[in-house]
Amino acid sequence: MLDWSDPKAAAATIHPAFAGDLPPADATGLGTIERGGGRVRVDDKRMINARADVNQLLPLKYRWAWEKYLAGCNNHWMPTEVSMQADIALWKSKDGLTDDERRMIKRNLGFFAASESLVANNIVLAIYRHLTNPECRQYLLRQAFEEAVHTHTFQYIVESLSLDEVELFNMYREVPSITDKAAWALKHTQHLDDPDFRTGTPEADQAFLRDLVAFYVIFEGMWFYTGFAQILSLGRRNKMVGIAEQYQYILRDESIHLNFGIDVINQIKHENPHLWTPAFQDEVRGMIRTAAELEASYGRDTMPRGFLGLNAALCETYMHFIANRRCAQLGLQPVFAEVENPFPWMSEAMDLKKEKNFFETRVIEYQNGGALAWD
Ligand SMILES: [Fe+2]
Ligand SMILES: [Fe+2]
Repeated sequence: MLDWSDPKAAAATIHPAFAGDLPPADATGLGTIERGGGRVRVDDKRMINARADVNQLLPLKYRWAWEKYLAGCNNHWMPTEVSMQADIALWKSKDGLTDDERRMIKRNLGFFAASESLVANNIVLAIYRHLTNPECRQYLLRQAFEEAVHTHTFQYIVESLSLDEVELFNMYREVPSITDKAAWALKHTQHLDDPDFRTGTPEADQAFLRDLVAFYVIFEGMWFYTGFAQILSLGRRNKMVGIAEQYQYILRDESIHLNFGIDVINQIKHENPHLWTPAFQDEVRGMIRTAAELEASYGRDTMPRGFLGLNAALCETYMHFIANRRCAQLGLQPVFAEVENPFPWMSEAMDLKKEKNFFETRVIEYQNGGALAWD
């Protein structure tokens, strides 16, 4: 990993765009080819505002991005590989699930159903344009496909259980605790939505960082985690085991998405230390604190009474634990008092091989369960 504590190394990497050197090249890769132009040098590659041609993958500079692309490919799965028979029987039974459990399941599915699309749209329409590095873009292409697989999962669940698709896919606009989260995240990508938005000034580059924090660290790295905990907690009690198995696969994918986002942010910080000011660090910590509060409201709304092993207070504690962990990954001071992880089984849930007998459903062996090592 990079050494953030070395100010000399950090200062040496200030981008030429800010040092009066050559201007950044075309960021899209769709401009005119510069015939006879110089060959791509590793040193010219940058996360943002790069001078190197974005159409040339090799030579690689950021091997961590390439390795995450390979890990994502090795983890390939499809929702239709998972049997839904036990879930269908339980969902249709009169007394297999309590009303509280049904409420939580439906809201959880409603949150994820639209969130996967929001994350995918942000990758394709906002992040991809401004991340000027081909190996990172290679990963983004893989991630975009995985988000499509995740959206497919919710379509498959809705179809299998004969749920009301209109109710579920509209929840992100109709259930305030879900809308509040989506609206908060979208606020941070609206700058990038402007077709004239360009990185290359400290203000614009910080706006790009805000988007990365909102979607990778908060949406995928915080909010998704309580969503996983809710469903996996049911799976531990042998309820909705098909959905729980699918959530395990999604969790494994998301842990790589999160860690890619953390690496991207930290690399941008390393190359552009002038962006990571104390005021900006405070702002990011404030974003993480607000996100944890929004999640606590969502927890109270989805689990007004709670049930065995799971309630809103435990989810709030879990969010504080996760929030502090995300701060540490970004090199920030914690935002909450130190707490114990109330769901220590969540880290085990990412190791699918260990869970094989637990969920008593068909689990396919994968070459790489490497997501564990990153979270
Ligand atoms: Fe996803
Ligand atoms: Fe994701």
